[in-house]
Amino acid sequence: MFRSFAAWFANSTKKEYIPATIFALKSSGERWPMSKVIVIANQKGGVGKTTTAINLAASLAVAEKRTLLVDVDPQANATSGIGISPLEGRTIYEVIVDGLNMGSTIVETQMPYLSCVPSHINLVGAEIEMVDLENRERRLSQAIKTIRDQYDFIVIDCPPSLGLLTLNALTAADSVLIPVQCEYFALEGLGQLFSTINLVKKTLNPNLDIEGVLLTMFDSRLRLSNQIVDEVKRYFGNKVFKTIVSRNIRLSEAPSFGKPIILYDAICSGTRHHMDLAKEVLANNDALTPESMPHPQSLTGS
Ligand SMILES: Nc1ncnc2c1ncn2[C@@H]1O[C@H](COP(=O)(O)OP(=O)(O)OP(=O)(O)O)[C@@H](O)[C@H]1O
Ligand SMILES: [Mg+2]
Repeated sequence: MFRSFAAWFANSTKKEYIPATIFALKSSGERWPMSKVIVIANQKGGVGKTTTAINLAASLAVAEKRTLLVDVDPQANATSGIGISPLEGRTIYEVIVDGLNMGSTIVETQMPYLSCVPSHINLVGAEIEMVDLENRERRLSQAIKTIRDQYDFIVIDCPPSLGLLTLNALTAADSVLIPVQCEYFALEGLGQLFSTINLVKKTLNPNLDIEGVLLTMFDSRLRLSNQIVDEVKRYFGNKVFKTIVSRNIRLSEAPSFGKPIILYDAICSGTRHHMDLAKEVLANNDALTPESMPHPQSLTGS
């Protein structure tokens, strides 16, 4: 067992140099008293939900926060993107539809501090199968309650829709993180998303909060990207994360190797930006300790 994430990283990658980004999130080792469930949602497809879910979860794990990534999308991109092949009969589908104990579906990932509840393509049928189930919007919330005290953070990846699966995720969450792609029609559909969030707040989950709006796939060379940033900031003000995730080819390559970006390329901009995002999330949740501030030194493990 390694004393720290940095020690584990040095050992498993056999690198002599540990990027300063890892130290930037080094934990004090103290347990954070409160567990937090963050859902990554936007019904628009391809805006960076899964990329954010995987890499925010991995970066929180780098900070030595016990983190669970829950994949609620039938596409199962977060599951494969983190290198997991689900065991038959032990996925989020059985948890939501059959009421299987969530604890029995949790799989360890290749990273310390990071576990996953995998998804499977058969979740496609869940929306229809759930229609007649009792408490159909609260199935995930009830399941998460049974395991949430084992984690500091639970990050949920949603499908690109506002159907029952996303509704379950919003009902189970403490907050919503909304990725917005710096592209044409970036704000399209956000009105509907916020109406759904408000409806969930009124009826199912009064404590649901907005964690923040995250600008993704930013390209500084494009005037459009800069215009979208201005527009989103004008619209959402201080709810927009200071961190902006740039377009980075390494981020799109990493999932096909089943790795979060930190294990694929620890010094690329994609890693840096997701570590910055995690740092902001930790700071916003009072979970950043003085020891977790940037540490200039590089080190060789143990
Ligand atoms: N910052 C980035 N730089 C480059 N490519 C990115 C970046 N973020 C995401 N991508 C790529 O864009 C595509 C869409 O991203 P992602 O799968 O995270 O979106 P999504 O919102 O989860 O999609 P869906 O709605 O289908 O679930 C993927 O191929 C991903 O690798
Ligand atoms: Mg996705």
